[in-house]
Amino acid sequence: MSNTVTKIGDNMNLEVIILAAGQGKRMKSRLPKVLHQLAGRPLLEHLLDRVQEISASNVHIVIGHGGDQIRKTFSEKAVNWVTQDQQLGTGHAVAQAMPDVADETIVLVLYADVPLTSAAILTQLVTTAQQGALALLTVEMENPQGYGRIIRDSGQVCAIVEEKDATAEERLVTEVNTGILAAPAQHLKRWLPALSAENAQGEYYLTDIIAMAVGDGVEVVTRSSPTTQEVQGVNSRQQLAELERWYQRQQAVALMESGVTLADPSRLDVRGSVKCGQDVFIDINVIIEGEVQLGDGVQIGPNVLLRNSKIADGVYIGANSIIDETVIAENCQVGPFARLRPGTELAKDAKIGNFVETKKSLIGEGSKVNHLSYVGDSILGRDVNVGAGTITCNYDGANKHLTELGDGVFVGSNTALVAPIKVGKGVTIGAGSTVSRDIEADSLIVVRGKPRTLAGWQRPRKK
Ligand code: UD1
Ligand code: CA
Repeated sequence: MSNTVTKIGDNMNLEVIILAAGQGKRMKSRLPKVLHQLAGRPLLEHLLDRVQEISASNVHIVIGHGGDQIRKTFSEKAVNWVTQDQQLGTGHAVAQAMPDVADETIVLVLYADVPLTSAAILTQLVTTAQQGALALLTVEMENPQGYGRIIRDSGQVCAIVEEKDATAEERLVTEVNTGILAAPAQHLKRWLPALSAENAQGEYYLTDIIAMAVGDGVEVVTRSSPTTQEVQGVNSRQQLAELERWYQRQQAVALMESGVTLADPSRLDVRGSVKCGQDVFIDINVIIEGEVQLGDGVQIGPNVLLRNSKIADGVYIGANSIIDETVIAENCQVGPFARLRPGTELAKDAKIGNFVETKKSLIGEGSKVNHLSYVGDSILGRDVNVGAGTITCNYDGANKHLTELGDGVFVGSNTALVAPIKVGKGVTIGAGSTVSRDIEADSLIVVRGKPRTLAGWQRPRKK
C-alpha cells in the first residue's frame, strides 16, 4: 500500500475510490470541474464529507485533468492521490487505484462530480457488497439520454449498455446506471484487467464488469435512488445551478421544519450551516456563509449577508446589512445598511444604525452608534452615544491604534477621534471636534474654530 495513505475512518473493511480525472469539457472552464462550488464549497468537498460519514479506512482519488490544482486544494485531506495520465475510461481509472487497495476489502466507487449522494444509500451498497455481491446504484430517469442503461433478463441485471453502444430497443430503458457501485476488491482485481476497449468510444468501461459478474455467478444487486438529484452528476453549469437550487430547497425545508419562518424558501441561500432558535424570521434574499447561529426570535431583514457570526435572542438585523465574524448579544438592533466587520462584538441592547461600519470593536451594553460612522479598533463602555458622522481615526498610515470611550460618553456629531486615545467616563465631546489626546472623566471638550461674523457681507459677483 502506498505510504501516503492515511486512515480517515474505522471501517477497516472499506476503501473508497473517487474518480476525478475527467476534463469536464461541458463546463467550459479553466477550473477543474470538481473544484466548482455548490453551496459555497467545492463539489469534491461535499463528497469527501459523505465519505467521512461512512468511515472508510482509505480514500483513493484518481486525478488527471487539473490534478495538481485539485491536490493543492485538498492538501490537508488524508487521502491517497492516484494519477491517471490518460483518460482511457472509468474502468481504466478504477484500475489505477487497485494496486493500493487491500485484497480483503470492499471497494466503493464514486464519481467526484456526483456530490450529493446520501451516506445512507452508500452504506446500503457497502453492506450488500459485504455479502459478496456486486451492488449497483440505479435510478429511474424520465429522460435517460446519455446514461448507461440497465439491461435486465427476467428481472435480473445482466449488463449495462452505454448510450453510444445501445440498440434502439435498449435506449428505451429508463432505468440507468448512476456509476456508483460497491464490490469485493478481489472480484474487481480479477475483472478489471480483463476489460477491453472494443466499443463505440474505445474506452475501458467500468460498466462491463456487470456482465463479467453475471458470467462468474456473482450476484448483481441493485439499489435504487429515491431522488434523481442525489445521484445527479454535474456536467454543465446548468446542471450545477439546478443542483444548487435543489440543495438550497432541502436546507430551507429543514429550517422551516425546525421552526423558522422564511418569507420565501426559494430566496434563502445557505452556503455553510446555520443553527436557529425558535421563531426566527428570515426575510427574502438572505445569504448565510460559514457557520452562523441565530437565537430565539431573531429577525433578519431582506438582503442581509451573515457570515461566521453568532446572534443572540431577540436581535433585529435591518435590511441590506452585512454581518461578518461578529458576535451580537441579546436584543441588539442593527441596520438597515450596517456593515459589521470581523472582530465586532455588541453587548446586549446595543444599537448600530444605518451607514455605520465597525471593525474589531467592542460596543458596550446599551451603547448606540446610530448614523454614518466608522468605529474601528475601539472599546466602548456602557451607554455610550456616538453621534452621526463620528470617525475613529485608527490608522496612521503604518499602524492601527486603539480608541477607548468610557461608560456614558457622549460624542457629538462629526467628531474625529484620533487614536490612540482614551476618553474618560461621562465625557461630552462637542460636535465637530477633532480630538487627539486623552480626556479626563466627566469633562466637556469642544475643539472648534472660533466663529467670526462679518456683518453685511457682499458675495463676489461674476465679471
Ligand atoms: C458513466 C457510466 C454510465 C453512467 C454515467 C452516470 C461508464 C462507462 N459509463 O458514463 O453508465 O450512466 O457515468 O453519470 O462508466 N473518469 C476518470 N477517468 C476516465 C474517465 C472518466 O476519472 O478515464 C471520471 C470522470 O471524471 C467522471 C466519472 O469518471 O467523474 C464519469 O466519467 P464520464 O466520462 O462522465 O462517464 P459517462 O460517459 O458519463
Ligand atoms: Ca458523466
